[in-house]
Amino acid sequence: MPIEHARQLFQSRFNAAPDAVTRAPGRVEILGNHTDYNGGYVLTSAINRSIVMAGSKTGGDAVELYSAAMDQTASFPLGGLKNDPERPWADYVKGVLDQLQKAGVTLSGFRAVIAGDLPIGAGVSSSAALEASTAYLMRALFPYSMDPMDAAKLCRRAENEFVGMPCGLLDQFSSVFGEADSMLFLDCDTLEHKTLRLPAPAPNIVLTHSGVKHQLVESEYRVRREQCETAARVLGEKTGKTPRFLRDITLDEFNQYKESLEPVTRKRAQHVMEENQRVLDGVAALERGDLAGLGRCVYESHASSRDLFENTCPELDILIELSKEIPGCIGAKMTGGGFGGATVNLVEPDKTDSFAKTIAALYEQNTGLHCEPMICAAAPGAGIII
Ligand code: GLA
Repeated sequence: MPIEHARQLFQSRFNAAPDAVTRAPGRVEILGNHTDYNGGYVLTSAINRSIVMAGSKTGGDAVELYSAAMDQTASFPLGGLKNDPERPWADYVKGVLDQLQKAGVTLSGFRAVIAGDLPIGAGVSSSAALEASTAYLMRALFPYSMDPMDAAKLCRRAENEFVGMPCGLLDQFSSVFGEADSMLFLDCDTLEHKTLRLPAPAPNIVLTHSGVKHQLVESEYRVRREQCETAARVLGEKTGKTPRFLRDITLDEFNQYKESLEPVTRKRAQHVMEENQRVLDGVAALERGDLAGLGRCVYESHASSRDLFENTCPELDILIELSKEIPGCIGAKMTGGGFGGATVNLVEPDKTDSFAKTIAALYEQNTGLHCEPMICAAAPGAGIII
């Protein structure tokens, strides 16, 4: 449906059929909160909601984009790409064009529409999906070869360097590598990864958006990142190592030298160290078909984000407490950067509808805030459709 919509949109705006259509999904972080930029582990799924792009080459140097979600156009030359505070959504596309050109890919003018059924600002990483969809659209229009991991890394660089968000690889990896009925494990240091099939019947992924987004999301994200870097540096001095990030410190070393960290830094580092272990425990549970065991790790992850990393908020914590009271919920936690945004709930398929209705009603009773749960399933990663 979203694919047909994007094609029609292109046809009606430009009076021609698009040369290519691509899609890239959003993601949910199942385990591994703020572990990615620490060189740690993550467990993630791509979801069956995507950003879809339809585009054609036009020659010359001019790019013309239309975003259906924003109902805005952006026109700019390929040479001398610049950020545009009036159209921040276009920066994700520009960042990828910039990185592709830096990687030696020859591009020329094109026009494209951006549509899809992945909500923006809902905590499911529409930004990474837009980056991945752009990378695949460029590949369809200006064929170049790049392996999927390099494509994910290129999209991350687009976000770090052009958009200016110091994220890790979680979102872009998930959007590129997603697989149906599966979760994906990634070692963010070695980039070793594997696909873990969900035992049947696969749980649904229910996203519940808290309806709050704190102003400080980006600055707090940076602060957390810096605190982790400080912890790695101090623990490096104690252990005589030169750690690149917290991953290079073992849990034993952390426990031996943690008193040398200032209390807040210590809490941040403790979260990351234990969260890495939780990802491994969650993967082991999944491998033995133990969904309840995975669910316990997911609940523990949220508690650690709340108490140690302190990147939740009262509304997210309420959603988690409510989920525990509703039949069918296997595990729930906040997903993504935090300070507002969404929680992810793993829910037994036959109880999903009643779970969604109940949590929305209870959340509204408790907070006065409206919540429309989004029922998703694990889905395939980015690709060229036409
Ligand atoms: C955001 C970032 C990711 C990751 C998560 C937290 O989604 O984009 O790289 O750091 O937060 O785990």
